[in-house]
Amino acid sequence: MKVDGKPTRTIWLEADGWSIGIIDQTTLPHRFTKQRLTTLDDMARAIKSMQVRGAPLIGVAAAYGVCLALRADSSDENLERACAALLATRPTAINLKWALDEIVAAVRNQPREARIAAAYRRAAEIADEDVAINQAIGHHGLKLIEDIAARKNSGPVNVLTHCNAGWLAVVDLGSATAPIYLAHDKGIGIHVWVDETRPRNQGASLTAWELGQHGVPHTVIADNTGGHLMQHGMVDMVIVGTDRVTAQGDVCNKIGTYLKALAAKDNGVPFYVALPSPTIDFTLSDGLREIPIEQRGAEEQSTMTGRTPDGRIETVQIVPDGSAVANYAFDVTPARLITGLITERGVLKATREGLTAAFPERAGGNR
Ligand code: MRU
Repeated sequence: MKVDGKPTRTIWLEADGWSIGIIDQTTLPHRFTKQRLTTLDDMARAIKSMQVRGAPLIGVAAAYGVCLALRADSSDENLERACAALLATRPTAINLKWALDEIVAAVRNQPREARIAAAYRRAAEIADEDVAINQAIGHHGLKLIEDIAARKNSGPVNVLTHCNAGWLAVVDLGSATAPIYLAHDKGIGIHVWVDETRPRNQGASLTAWELGQHGVPHTVIADNTGGHLMQHGMVDMVIVGTDRVTAQGDVCNKIGTYLKALAAKDNGVPFYVALPSPTIDFTLSDGLREIPIEQRGAEEQSTMTGRTPDGRIETVQIVPDGSAVANYAFDVTPARLITGLITERGVLKATREGLTAAFPERAGGNR
């Protein structure tokens, strides 16, 4: 996607051929900054602090993290140590583990002197595959938007989205936003309701920013607004991303997604989830019971960060001293509330049969 008119990915190999560049997402939307990462620790810190975030992107970041670790020491022990350190950074998105498994498979049987090159090769492939997958998701989702546009007599297609499953959450294009960008580029009238997504405000800070960069009409709303809009016919469809989908089609996504799915069901609004296949965890079935839900620091909940009128970035406390605070980062939407899963292989039913038929080669891990 373009930033200030310049094509940009969220992660890249620097000109030196080994260090890794990222967009620092913690300074958006007020400052567009980049970081150069040179060590495993740099990468682990960037993932944990959410300078890079979003399920597919943290997978690619972790893959490059192993590359950086192998440059320092390409032994089996260090490979294991690096994977353990990266795996511990964020527990919910399965893409991280998937990418680590891919890298380990690519280097394990290589002699030590060939390991670094093999790891970089596979990491670059994973990044490119992510872009191709998102393009395919975009084309399948575009058809859904076109169908709604054809049925509507007037006005744009109103899509509600939660969190950031845009190009900042992946390498390029986005998962939930891919159909939106393609529709917009095709001249279809489209407008996006952007849930602000407390506590970290990925919707208000990131989705709104990237939609704005691409010129897509959008409106930021408080998280509690979606139900009201749906009751008044102001939402034609919901498209969200996901951090992990189980074999039976349960979807784990940013906290608050479940409530939107309930409101959508009650109002007959189609609720779609866009996902690349590495987000499917065929080893789990019951999302509610089996997916680990990350709990993050209290300060994300008890404070807000923003820009003051004179341009300073300030963080202020919004909770009384002494009040307990809970910060569950994700929730699970049961498959029965989901209209369809938009994948690179088409729009699937959120069922075991739907997922297995589309991805038979991955369904082996099914329980
Ligand atoms: O905690 P984050 O910001 O890394 O959460 C990931 C997300 O942005 C969402 O849950 C998203 O919808 C899935 S990632 C495409």
